[in-house]
Amino acid sequence: MTMTDNFALTGYTDGDVDINTSTERSLESLADERYSRRQTLFGGMGATGMALFGTTMLSACGGDGDIDESPVVTPGSVAATSGGRVVTLTTTVAVDVLPGTWTQTSGEAVTLTTVNATTATFIAPAVAQTTDLVFTYSAPTQRGGTATATSTVRVNPAVLGFAAVAKNLADIVTVPAGYSVTVMTRLGDPLASGVSAYANNGTDGDFDKRIGDHGDALHFFGLSAAGVRDDNSNTRGLMVQNHENLNVQYLHPNGPTNVSTGPRPQAEALKEMMAHGVSVSEYVDAGNRKWSYVAGSTFNRRVTPATPMQFNGPAAGSAQLRTLFSADGTRGRGTINNCANGITPWATNLTCEENWAGYFRRGVPGTSGVAADNAARTPREIVALSRYGVTGNIGNYAWSTTATTDTLYTRWDARVQGATATADFRNEPNQFGWVVEIDPYDPTSTPRKRTALGRCGHEGAFVQAVAGKKLAVYTGDDSRREYLYKFVSATTFSAADAGSSNRLAMGDKYLDNGTLYVARFDANGTGQWLPLVFGQVPDLANYAFADQADILINCRLAADAVKATPMDRPEWTAGNPVTGEIYLTLTNNNAAGRPLNGTDAANPRHYNDPKGTSAQYGNPNGHIIRLRETGDDAAATTFRWDIYLFGADSVDADPANVNLSGLTADNDLSSPDGLYFARGTNPSGKVKPVLWIQTDDGAFTDRTNCMMLAAMPGTVGDGGVKTITNKDATGATASQATITGAAVTAATLRRFLVGPVQCEITGIDTTPDGRTLFVGIQHPGEDGTPAAPSSHWPDSQGATTVGATHA
Ligand code: FEO
Ligand code: CA
Ligand code: CA
Repeated sequence: MTMTDNFALTGYTDGDVDINTSTERSLESLADERYSRRQTLFGGMGATGMALFGTTMLSACGGDGDIDESPVVTPGSVAATSGGRVVTLTTTVAVDVLPGTWTQTSGEAVTLTTVNATTATFIAPAVAQTTDLVFTYSAPTQRGGTATATSTVRVNPAVLGFAAVAKNLADIVTVPAGYSVTVMTRLGDPLASGVSAYANNGTDGDFDKRIGDHGDALHFFGLSAAGVRDDNSNTRGLMVQNHENLNVQYLHPNGPTNVSTGPRPQAEALKEMMAHGVSVSEYVDAGNRKWSYVAGSTFNRRVTPATPMQFNGPAAGSAQLRTLFSADGTRGRGTINNCANGITPWATNLTCEENWAGYFRRGVPGTSGVAADNAARTPREIVALSRYGVTGNIGNYAWSTTATTDTLYTRWDARVQGATATADFRNEPNQFGWVVEIDPYDPTSTPRKRTALGRCGHEGAFVQAVAGKKLAVYTGDDSRREYLYKFVSATTFSAADAGSSNRLAMGDKYLDNGTLYVARFDANGTGQWLPLVFGQVPDLANYAFADQADILINCRLAADAVKATPMDRPEWTAGNPVTGEIYLTLTNNNAAGRPLNGTDAANPRHYNDPKGTSAQYGNPNGHIIRLRETGDDAAATTFRWDIYLFGADSVDADPANVNLSGLTADNDLSSPDGLYFARGTNPSGKVKPVLWIQTDDGAFTDRTNCMMLAAMPGTVGDGGVKTITNKDATGATASQATITGAAVTAATLRRFLVGPVQCEITGIDTTPDGRTLFVGIQHPGEDGTPAAPSSHWPDSQGATTVGATHA
């Protein structure tokens, strides 16, 4: 990563750090860690939003926005189409024929929508091979007879039907022809009646009633017309979105005050806190995918760093969770730095606490860092705090320095100050780093922190649930050289539980008892899930585990102890709804984190991706690994893996040793982050499901803004063993064997979207029918200033419609 900012301030890091001090890692200087692109406290445009594409099916990308690709079928003809496309059946009738109807007479059943007396439409199903569907138009005649006509529609397997979007540096969201973009919710949009429109000039407060900053993962939870959960609704739902962090320069009239030294003004600190967390906002379609959000909906909610939380699972009540606020260690306040997500079968949202460590204070500005606090700590505490990077002098944004004794602010000061742990907030950092379950349908419910899933820098939490089998949750820990984890429930999953109205109780049933594993990727293409179970995890030389709660609270140390494989920054996980294979983005690594002689089969590359005149060594473009569980059982303790995709700059990369997936100008990418398979409820999620890949990149940004691509991947093992030659900055070389998936083609990977200037693309979902795609656009213009914003998105989108329906 490159230095782009002066960094006098305590800063934000989005996983772009390496604090794994286990023996497998290579250290780099702390200074270099701190000067990363994504660590900029100052930077960013005051608008974060969500783009939406409202006209077409995804897998086939024909549809009513793209008439040429939407067959109109007349009787007697045989029309060809492919899975996912909209097909129109029509006919002409003689003067003596009365209005009739279309019916299907053979082939896989589809849902026919009547348009008028002679016309009906349907969406072509996903098919494994070419399949004929036959339809008959039948109408009475005025002489008492019946007139009929027959049409055949030949459906081919789904394809990526859109034209690839070119890389670009424009300050808009660019999508293919046939698609449209609507901005939905933006930073500051009101979420309650009576809240003023967002002024966006630094004067707005009350972010606990507004959309937060830095929108990240999102999910559309369907609502029926009657206002209850409806997983099949395509026209009304609750959008649940994470708000990871801030571009703080725009939140106050004159920028933030005293961030590096304190004291912070209390009102500024409160505003900054409340712009974090999670939002729930109601979305409605007025017809034909004309979406807006409902500012006054009673479902709307903000979950913030102040929202009451409950701890569940084996670590609840642990002495290590006890604080001045939570004397018994079972309660907590709020969630922070919420990055990616997970969705349960019972329709709750799992929000993941990623880079929480930087928010805490352990020192005094101008003094020798954490030394004074370390002197008051036990050796074990120091090991744990260091392993998790809770080493900030004053903490991001210095919230604990406000002139108040209100513990909402003082809690961010993790120094030992009282006589006991329940007299101060020395343990407050242990209250973060969890996967948190929220019931989006009940605005009054108390979110639950699921400690059985372990505490780390959780990026996301993909839930794999198959009826009659144990349920699994896959979570990446996003820092350099961190690990991939899997939680397996103690209880087998009962499909009937998916419909329970007591949703958080289902979380209690499946997410509080089970086994946490960490992944080891072996060179021969197999892997092991190593259990993080007290009694089975050896002690470290500097840390003896006390009990299972200790293992879960310090699962990074436990993973070190069992010698899991340190990865190139594990980000999102996603599961193929047809094959069950699990994909994991490994966004990138630098030369210190992945040196020439520190590669392995699963993290095989060390190379240079030139950016202008700058060299970028390590694995600056990242890769996507995937695994197939033994026996296709999520509870398996072994798996097979390969590397599905290698990021690369198709111009600069050596095709033999770096551009291993064969990327071209139409699909080259760097730093994959967001990862999402199409829902299995529509053709794009069936037979050969579409995988959406989103980037959060700083290495390729000389050529393009961050992007989203659509892929149709194969399966683990569709490529083969390959030995590459890595080369470092000195010209030294080293050989590394790896296991690659099949090279991609124009048919299997294609760029669908490029975002505005200095954004990351993160957060994705669709309506169940797949016809509306929701995408998060985070921190456009993050390096700008209020005087000179480097992005004007979403205003720059032009034809974009922006608006709320006030209930
Ligand atoms: Fe918040 Fe690792 O991205
Ligand atoms: Ca380059
Ligand atoms: Ca991310």
